[in-house]
Amino acid sequence: MRILLKVWRQATPRARGEFKDYVAENASPDMSFLEMLDVVNERLIVKGDDPIAFDSDCREGICGTCGFLISGVPHGPDPGTTVCQLHMRRFRDADRVILEPWRAKAFPVIKDLVVDRSAFDRIIQAGGYTSVNVGGAQDGNAILVPKPLAEKAMDSAACIGCGACVAACKNASAALFTSAKVSHLALLPQGQVERSTRVVAMVDRHDAEGFGSCSNEGECEAVCPKEIPITNIARMNREYFRAMLTGEG
Ligand code: SF4
Ligand code: FES
Repeated sequence: MRILLKVWRQATPRARGEFKDYVAENASPDMSFLEMLDVVNERLIVKGDDPIAFDSDCREGICGTCGFLISGVPHGPDPGTTVCQLHMRRFRDADRVILEPWRAKAFPVIKDLVVDRSAFDRIIQAGGYTSVNVGGAQDGNAILVPKPLAEKAMDSAACIGCGACVAACKNASAALFTSAKVSHLALLPQGQVERSTRVVAMVDRHDAEGFGSCSNEGECEAVCPKEIPITNIARMNREYFRAMLTGEG
């Protein structure tokens, strides 16, 4: 396959970026999208050019490190799939593909397709943990969790923090990410002690980082590689109002 790439190149956070054209020659349909970019980069390095910067780590859809816009869609055309799990067989010979970094004020571009997502870390630092002592692993069996709640909590905990939800949202809201993190702790008995302070602290941090408000567009859910549902956002809003009404937040 021969793929025509239009890639956002930006040398530094303050540099003026621009699109540049590249050709991925002889791409195999069995390559992952990132392997195709690896080959393009190897050829750039051989020519003495600067390789295209992009993030990746696990390359199996679990770490949340990878992610950029592929022709306007976060993580590309396959639903429920990270960029690292996307394969070239999804494209056709001579396709033209546009690669851009996440576009959001709270995710400044570091270089090319790499953005700074440390705002997510600060939201987690604000409350995405439990500080109560729940004992060792063996004590976990003594804290009974109803199966439906455990399932819901696990579904929310599936969020990998990739940031696609922010990139897809016209408000650049991180409500889906924040609500997934609020939810998985709010649903479990271990998360009850800090339930109110947690949601208020995390939502306040979300706003302070410059993410926008949720207006229920649903774009986040549509592009989330872990298919986190927006019912998490409704739960986060209920948790927030509960904390305000009880004065516990
Ligand atoms: S909610 Fe989905 S899109 Fe958003 S950070 Fe988590 S895994 Fe990524
Ligand atoms: S590299 Fe880990 S999810 Fe893509």
